[in-house]
Amino acid sequence: MTAPGGHPAAGADFVVVANRLPVDRSVQPDGSVVWKRSPGGLVTALTPTLATRSGAWVGWSGSASTADDAEEHQAPTVDGIEIHAVPLSEDEIAEYYEGFSNATLWPLYHDLLVKPVFRHDWWDTYVRVNRRFAEAASRAAADGAMVWVQDYQLQLVPAMLRELRPDLRIGFFLHIPFPPRELFTQLPWRRELVAGLLGADLIGFHLPGGAENFLSVARRVLGVDASREPVGIRTDFGTVAYDGRTVQVGSFPISIDSADVAAQAAATADRAARIRAELGDPEVMLLGVDRLDYTKGIDVRLAGLERLFADGRLDPAKTVLVQLASPSRERVDSYIDIRNRIEQTVGHINGTHGTVDHPPIRYLLQPVARDELLAYFRAADVMLVTPLRDGMNLVAKEYIASRDDLGGALVLSEFTGAAAELVDAYQLNPYDDRNVDDVIEAAVVDPAEVRRKRMAALHEQVMSNDVDQWAHSFLHTLAGSPADAPA
Ligand code: ADP
Ligand code: F6P
Repeated sequence: MTAPGGHPAAGADFVVVANRLPVDRSVQPDGSVVWKRSPGGLVTALTPTLATRSGAWVGWSGSASTADDAEEHQAPTVDGIEIHAVPLSEDEIAEYYEGFSNATLWPLYHDLLVKPVFRHDWWDTYVRVNRRFAEAASRAAADGAMVWVQDYQLQLVPAMLRELRPDLRIGFFLHIPFPPRELFTQLPWRRELVAGLLGADLIGFHLPGGAENFLSVARRVLGVDASREPVGIRTDFGTVAYDGRTVQVGSFPISIDSADVAAQAAATADRAARIRAELGDPEVMLLGVDRLDYTKGIDVRLAGLERLFADGRLDPAKTVLVQLASPSRERVDSYIDIRNRIEQTVGHINGTHGTVDHPPIRYLLQPVARDELLAYFRAADVMLVTPLRDGMNLVAKEYIASRDDLGGALVLSEFTGAAAELVDAYQLNPYDDRNVDDVIEAAVVDPAEVRRKRMAALHEQVMSNDVDQWAHSFLHTLAGSPADAPA
């Protein structure tokens, strides 16, 4: 049914638009369809948020659509969320997702850790797919609805959606860092991307630094009037005058469902004890949990551990590092390279510093079930979070929430968004090898009361800043944003 304005009379009042749905669709050998929770921090953050606000989620199902099922897939309702699956063909996955999103934008926005690939054919596909998401969102949203567009894969959607549906209130949140102007302006399509984002009423970043970079880029690239005007403690606002509207820009550090993680982790004590026994009851258990991504600094922690073994500062016979890595973007060259490097290093360390019955590194390349993951958090003496660059890093927050026993210690790279809030972590500079070694060693050997005091402060921080506050703070600001005010 269509309302007089040309859009659905029914439809959701609140719509999330994200590259991924909270569930991935896969077709089994017998032809049956299975939906499973999809990977990454964005889904972790938004699922509880949407579950408490009945609405719709528009996203890709995680698998390729053929010509036969090229229309929007029927998907189950998840926790009361209406699911709209946007189809992508094999070629679109290669050019929009693996190509422009993850071989162009991802490295450009993460400090050029690998060289971004700039290809006009990938850009054309990115535009086409963004338009498809905008059209799907337009169909899902009720008159005057609030639509929240997520992340770097969909930066053109705000302007495309505004053109289709000027009645909507549109927010955009970037889950990864926004780069400095000097890096961003390498992008051949810099004007189009900035204009795409400015279709929103409110643009959110994790940190004030990202918001500042964006204001500076908008001024330089479009010559618009973009000013900094800080208000409040958690959010730092600026505004951009664009196209007769005022676009607000702010910072909103994302978090997790802290109480839920703490409660679930507390129930894993038996499994945590068994994990340590299965590892041979090591004196020290270190843990890494990441998508297998070159930004995560898995290589940084492995190199640090090898030096600590070689220098006799940690005993490989009494130490275990469990590295749980979840496969990610497996057909992108830079991901194939980092996987090979990590697997070679793990083999080298175990071959050099291990014995047949005690390899010091246990490495899994597979996603781990949620309750099992929480049991690992609960079992570990030291959690190693060592990215070279990371927008936030929810693993760090999940580890802290899991430790209501105030055990354990968090080693955290300064180059994560989380470092701005988690000031009591054992922070390190992943580019300084001596610092890496000293900080990991300190987290292992510091007296129990020092570690406990740090964990108590961290736990308090994470428990009192949860994902619901993040969502509320963003959506409250969006609801009050001067959508139609003259610039
Ligand atoms: P990103 O968004 O870059 O993937 P985050 O640390 O913000 O990184 O979020 C990652 C999410 O994926 C967390 O909820 C974490 O628990 C989950 N995760 C990461 N690695 C694994 C793994 N090996 N098995 C299961 N879940 C994982
Ligand atoms: O947080 C960054 C992000 O790219 C999310 O947008 C995404 O859901 C998550 O990491 C996992 O990545 P992917 O969807 O490419 O598997």
